[in-house]
Formats: sequence, C-alpha cells, structure tokens
Amino acid sequence: CCSCNILVPPNVSGVKGKYVTFPLTMPSSVQVSVLSWFKVSSSGNNNIFKWATYELQLGPLTSADSGTYSVTVVGTNMDVELGQTTLEVLDPVAEVTITSSLNEAVEFNSTVILTCSAKGSFLTYKWLNGSTPVVADGKHLMVNASQLFVAGVFRKDLQGPIYCTVQNQLESSTSPAFSMNVSYGPENLAMMKVPDAAFLKKDSNLTLSCSAVSSPAAELKWFFNGAELPQKGTTLALTSLEEKHSGNYSCVAFNSKTMRYAALQAATVLIIEPISGTNITAPTSLLIAGNTTVNLTCKASKGKADSVTWLKDDKPLMDTNRIVYTSDKTTLTIITVQKEDAGNYKCQLTNKMNSDSSIYTMAVNYGPEKASITGPSKVEVEDTVELKCIAPSFPPSTYTWKFNDTLLKITTAEYKIEKPVYSNSGIYTCEARNSVTGLTQKATHNLKVKGVGELNDQLSDGAIAVCLFSLSFSLLLF
Ligand SMILES: *[C@@H]1O[C@H](CO)[C@@H](O)[C@H](O)[C@H]1NC(C)=O
Ligand SMILES: *[C@@H]1O[C@H](CO)[C@@H](O)[C@H](O)[C@H]1NC(C)=O
Ligand SMILES: *[C@@H]1O[C@H](CO)[C@@H](O)[C@H](O)[C@H]1NC(C)=O
Ligand SMILES: *[C@@H]1O[C@H](CO)[C@@H](O)[C@H](O)[C@H]1NC(C)=O
Ligand SMILES: *[C@@H]1O[C@H](CO)[C@@H](O)[C@H](O)[C@H]1NC(C)=O
Ligand SMILES: *[C@@H]1O[C@H](CO)[C@@H](O)[C@H](O)[C@H]1NC(C)=O
Ligand SMILES: *[C@@H]1O[C@H](CO)[C@@H](O)[C@H](O)[C@H]1NC(C)=O
Ligand SMILES: *[C@@H]1O[C@H](CO)[C@@H](O)[C@H](O)[C@H]1NC(C)=O
Ligand SMILES: *[C@@H]1O[C@H](CO)[C@@H](O)[C@H](O)[C@H]1NC(C)=O
Repeated sequence: CCSCNILVPPNVSGVKGKYVTFPLTMPSSVQVSVLSWFKVSSSGNNNIFKWATYELQLGPLTSADSGTYSVTVVGTNMDVELGQTTLEVLDPVAEVTITSSLNEAVEFNSTVILTCSAKGSFLTYKWLNGSTPVVADGKHLMVNASQLFVAGVFRKDLQGPIYCTVQNQLESSTSPAFSMNVSYGPENLAMMKVPDAAFLKKDSNLTLSCSAVSSPAAELKWFFNGAELPQKGTTLALTSLEEKHSGNYSCVAFNSKTMRYAALQAATVLIIEPISGTNITAPTSLLIAGNTTVNLTCKASKGKADSVTWLKDDKPLMDTNRIVYTSDKTTLTIITVQKEDAGNYKCQLTNKMNSDSSIYTMAVNYGPEKASITGPSKVEVEDTVELKCIAPSFPPSTYTWKFNDTLLKITTAEYKIEKPVYSNSGIYTCEARNSVTGLTQKATHNLKVKGVGELNDQLSDGAIAVCLFSLSFSLLLF
C-alpha cells in the first residue's frame, strides 16, 4: 500500500484511562465518499469503528486498546486511500517521589544519591533545584537517568527544594519538594570577653562566650591552661576572680554528627589584686653606726608588686657599695650602718593596678664623736663664763665635768660659772658618754680668772664696743 501513512502518523500514544484522538490528514484532492476505521487485531480485520467525522476518538483507554488501527477512505471518484497507525496505551505518570540513599549527610564526607521513582511507562527524568535545572558537572554533581549523585556533599547542596519531574510523551508529574540537612562544622570559632580588659581587679567577674558555625549546634567545652573545666556551653561565667584564675582560656567545639572538633586558643586573663598593707620590716634592736648591718624588708599584706622603689627622704637612694638589694629588691641591706643613713625610708610597691607605700624612720646611734669645749680661756673675776662641751652623738650624750680631776655636780653640756673667782682657774674636763654605744669622749679646757681690768688691754675694738654698751646699759639701770 503506497499511500499508507499519508493520512495518519505511524504511531499514536494515549494514556490509560484517558481519551486519544487519531489525527487524520486528508489530502485536499480527496473528496470523501466513505470513511471507516478498523482495528487490526491478531484474529483478523474487525470493522469495529465507524465514524461520521474523519477523526477517531477513543477512550477511556485500557491496555487492551493498544494495537494497530487502519483507516480507509473511499473518495467520490472511487479512489481508495488507506492509513495505518499504532496506538500505544501508556501507563499514566504517577507517584513521583524522591528518596535519598542517606538519612543524614556530613559535609565533604557523604555521597548522597537521590533516586526519583515514579509509576508509568516510557519515562524521562528532570531534576530541578528550586526552579532552575540541576547542572551536572560530572564531578561533584552527576545525573544518571532517575538518579542524582552528589559526591562530597556541600552544606547548601540539598537545601533545595529539589524536585524531580517525570514525563512521558504525553504528560509529566513533579515530585513533592525534597530537602535534606547536611551536617557541617564546627568552624569559624569566635570568643567574646566581657569586660574586655587587659587585666582585671581581684574579685571581679568575667564572662567568656564562644560561638561556632556548626550544624547541628556544636557542644562547647572550656579549658583553662589546657585542663578541661566542668562548665559547658556557650558561656563561661567566672565570678569573684582571684590571681590563680589568671591564665589562658580556650574553647573546644564538637559536632556529634560530623564528629569534628575545632579549638580556639583565645582569652588570656590576668587578675591582679591591688597592693595594700605595705609595711617595712626593720630590726627591732638599736642600730649602732659602724657596727650594725641593717635589713629593711618591704612587704604588702595583699597584692603582688611588679616593681619596688626605695627612696630616702623622698630622694632616690644613693648608690653606694654599702647598699645592697636582693634580686627582687624587696630587701635592702645597709652594710655597717653610718650616721648619715638615718632618715625616712620609703618603699613603694607598684603593680598594673596601683601603688602602695610605707615609710620607716631609721635612727642610727652613734658617737659621741671627738669632743671639744667652747668658751673663753681667760675671764675677769665675776664675769660670768659659760663652757660648752660639744660631742655629736645620738642619742645625745650624758655629760660629766671635772675641775682639776675633781668631779663636779654638773650633768649638762653647758657649764656656767656665775661669778668666777681666782680659784676657778684650772683645767676643766668634760666627758661625754653615749649610753647606747657605750662610747665616751673627753675634752679639756684651760681657764684663767684674771683681776678686773686685766683683760682690757688685750681687748679688740669689737670687745670695747660691747664693753661700752654694757657700761651705758649699767648707767641706765642705776
Ligand atoms: C513508532 O513505534 C515504533 C515501535 O514502537 C518505533 O520503532 C518507531 O520509531 C515509532 N515511530 C515514531 C515516528 O514514533
Ligand atoms: C547509571 O545507573 C545505572 C543503574 O543504576 C548504572 O548501572 C550506571 O553505571 C549508572 N551510570 C553512571 C554514569 O553512573
Ligand atoms: C541548589 O542551589 C543552591 C543555591 O544556588 C546551591 O547552593 C546548591 O548547591 C544547589 N544544589 C544543587 C544540587 O545543585
Ligand atoms: C559578681 O557576680 C556576683 C554574683 O554573680 C555578684 O554578686 C557580684 O556583685 C559581682 N561582682 C561584681 C564586681 O560585679
Ligand atoms: C598563655 O598563652 C601565652 C601566649 O600563647 C603563653 O605565652 C603563656 O605561657 C600561656 N600561659 C599558660 C599558663 O599556659
Ligand atoms: C569522614 O571521612 C573521613 C575520611 O574519609 C573519616 O575518617 C571520617 O570518619 C568520616 N566522618 C564521618 C562522620 O563519617
Ligand atoms: C639580711 O638579708 C640578707 C638577704 O636576704 C640575709 O642573707 C641576711 O641574713 C639578713 N640579715 C639579717 C640580720 O637579717
Ligand atoms: C688647779 O690646777 C692649776 C694648774 O695645774 C693650778 O694652778 C690651780 O691652783 C689649781 N686650783 C685648785 C683649786 O686646785
Ligand atoms: C660592735 O660589734 C662588736 C662585734 O660584733 C661588739 O663586740 C661590740 O660590742 C659592738 N659595739 C657596740 C658599740 O655595740
């Protein structure tokens, strides 16, 4: 039959339960006189269908409707045209679903295979990521008919929603949205310190918080100088801090799904106690010049000093080889103390938080040093004379006076002879004694008592003036 397939396409598809229309193309030259459709069954040609119109509509279709159909057209000129076509009854596309090879996926680790399943025949598959088709790159993403392979899945790959669209020649159906959480992290750890100060006062509070990018949320543990702390979670609240809490705090994040850890070595905490109760410890025994070595020790009852400064009478200590410090400068040793060492010693302790100081007044016992007696060597009768014994000493000396080896009842440095007489001439001796050092010093002085006027000749001008003045003063009185 040479004109076969001219009137009808060779194949026609229909979906089970639906209707199919056999398209018919009538050449314009043909004037239809008789038109009849036949189903060609295995048992022979059965004239089952006749139709007033040229096209045949059939349905609802069952699988038994599959088969070959022919159409015969007899024209008015009695020409006969034949057409033959095959009806394919397709199963409808149904129950499109996406299933995953894994229930849980770990970023970079897992290879996820999504399978699109559907009922129907002669199906083709398309994958959509949201509304855009999934683009396979052959490495990370691969598409194989009904399967989507994601190798070393990334966290956002399956957020989707992912759809699978299944179609045959006649219809298509799309799966419900599919999405899947991919576990990832922990990563990008960050720590916050409140207050964020370089150092903190003792007894203050501190809050450290740690955050990590992780899905599911990471478990956070805290470490102090490498040792795990009992506290867990995003914040570590530290109250009433002491110096022993100074050190390094780190947080470690763990994701139980990815089984991955991340650590952050972050906060260095420094707790400083303000210095208070500074005190200088000095020997309780008396200090004797030239004999005693003195240790002054400076200590605070609270707080630790970073630096120690010593001042004497508010000036830096002279750097002599008699002054030695311990390496931490807290003890100052004055070797063989001298009288010049007496004074106010100030020790100042300083740390990052504050300064505190203490003052110690040091008394040095010395002397008496070489004694001397001041006073005139010649005096006129009845002119009051005062002798003074000088012998520097600390504590002040006690004095004893002798005249020509006879002990006098005088115990002061000064010895006043109100109205000297000739018999007061002679040798005066003073002895200074320091009861602490146990040392004594002696000095002698020769005094001559002269008659009235005997000394005038030798008087200087100044002495005359004084004389004249006292004369006029006497005149005034009488
Ligand atoms: C018709 O169906 C046959 C067999 O199923 C197939 O080989 C052929 O390619 C089809 N032709 C068309 C045009 O679809
Ligand atoms: C596609 O899937 C089939 C059946 O699951 C399998 O045999 C074939 O190897 C796959 N091809 C690729 C490129 O993955
Ligand atoms: C889907 O789109 C998101 C956003 O563009 C992308 O991050 C993700 O990798 C995509 N997933 C797939 C399977 O292509
Ligand atoms: C530290 O915290 C405690 C209780 O958490 C509170 O009683 C105290 O006042 C806080 N101390 C400071 C210095 O804020
Ligand atoms: C704390 O960390 C710093 C810097 O990493 C380091 O120098 C110091 O020794 C650490 N302290 C302790 C107690 O581990
Ligand atoms: C991820 O992969 C590494 C190396 O292939 C493996 O050691 C690890 O156990 C995997 N992690 C998980 C959670 O499967
Ligand atoms: C003074 O201090 C030094 C150094 O600490 C020590 O060796 C010495 O024994 C002390 N002397 C006295 C008398 O305390
Ligand atoms: C004291 O000694 C001096 C000189 O040795 C002597 O001249 C004088 O007479 C003496 N006076 C008395 C009261 O002994
Ligand atoms: C000085 O020290 C020596 C020896 O330590 C001692 O014998 C002497 O009595 C001391 N002197 C004083 C004045 O304390």
